[in-house]
Amino acid sequence: MQDLRELQERIALIKDEITGGIESLANSKAVYDFKKNFLDPKAGKISELMKSMKDIPAESKAEFGKSVNELKNWALGRFEEIDEQLKAKEAKLRYESEKIDVTMPAKHIMTGYLHPVTQVKNQLIDIFASMGFSVYEGTETETDYYNFTALNTPNDHPARDMQDTFYLSPGFLLRTQTSAGQIHVMEHQQPPIKILSPGKVFRADDDATHSPMFTQMEGLVVDKGITLCDLKGMLEVLCKRMFGENATTRLRPSYFPFTEPSVEVDVSCFECGGKGCRLCKGTGWIEILGAGIVNRKVLENCNIDPDVYSGLAFGIGVERLTMLKYGINNIKMLYESDLRVLEQIND
Ligand code: DAH
Repeated sequence: MQDLRELQERIALIKDEITGGIESLANSKAVYDFKKNFLDPKAGKISELMKSMKDIPAESKAEFGKSVNELKNWALGRFEEIDEQLKAKEAKLRYESEKIDVTMPAKHIMTGYLHPVTQVKNQLIDIFASMGFSVYEGTETETDYYNFTALNTPNDHPARDMQDTFYLSPGFLLRTQTSAGQIHVMEHQQPPIKILSPGKVFRADDDATHSPMFTQMEGLVVDKGITLCDLKGMLEVLCKRMFGENATTRLRPSYFPFTEPSVEVDVSCFECGGKGCRLCKGTGWIEILGAGIVNRKVLENCNIDPDVYSGLAFGIGVERLTMLKYGINNIKMLYESDLRVLEQIND
């Protein structure tokens, strides 16, 4: 550096370079990098100017020093200014992109529900579990013995015609009733017994209210002194919990080979309160299950002494109960998985 005039030219060039370059800087990092070209203590252009002080003649040193210092302060000011501007811009962009409009409608999240039949099955289990029942799940394939013979329905018994059976091979079948589970339980356990047996059953039967596969819930209580009163009391509790406090039950005589006496259980119509309507076909009552006092022969088949013990049993059609409860008139609606139907049923 020879004279002050040359210095002024250098200063003007550096200022131009800074002013021109600063415009295109996009963020703080770029500012930092650009700044280094001028102010890096080792290689920065302004730093170099300062270092060249030593070559300046003594009479010019003061002027030279002042000019370079002014340049340095000016550059620092410009860098600070642009850095602040860019930081503010970055913050604004981040704020915009992260902004949440709490007045926007929420995103609709689809949640799944339990199938209506599962919901009713679970309700039944809850109700009976609160009365001390435990759950035994049997198998869907059975032998003829457990499904029929041990339940007092030998081969030539006319009651076999009550259910159209899917045979798998001679002696083996798809169970037609969860009653088969009663035998398995009583074979393995002496009274007191208090079990509930839910599961799928199968019959060659197909119309608006019947399906080849459906769900039953079996109940069995065996102990000393069990009577029809116990059955009636339990079913009253069931109906009140299921259909409301005003629901009552009535028993009508019926026939099942494995119970004696046998009954059909009706609940007072929960639609009309008993006055008579379409649902109850004007009678005020709706049939909901079959039940009875366990036939002595069934107890004997399981080595339980019928002179000491007695039992009650009941079998509930879970689809039927579901249809009644939710006003569904075709059982197929429960198997078609149409979300418009399923979404309406979530208790
Ligand atoms: N197993 C009978 C059926 O499928 C239902 C039934 C009736 C079960 C009376 C019982 C009972 O335990 O006592 O039609």
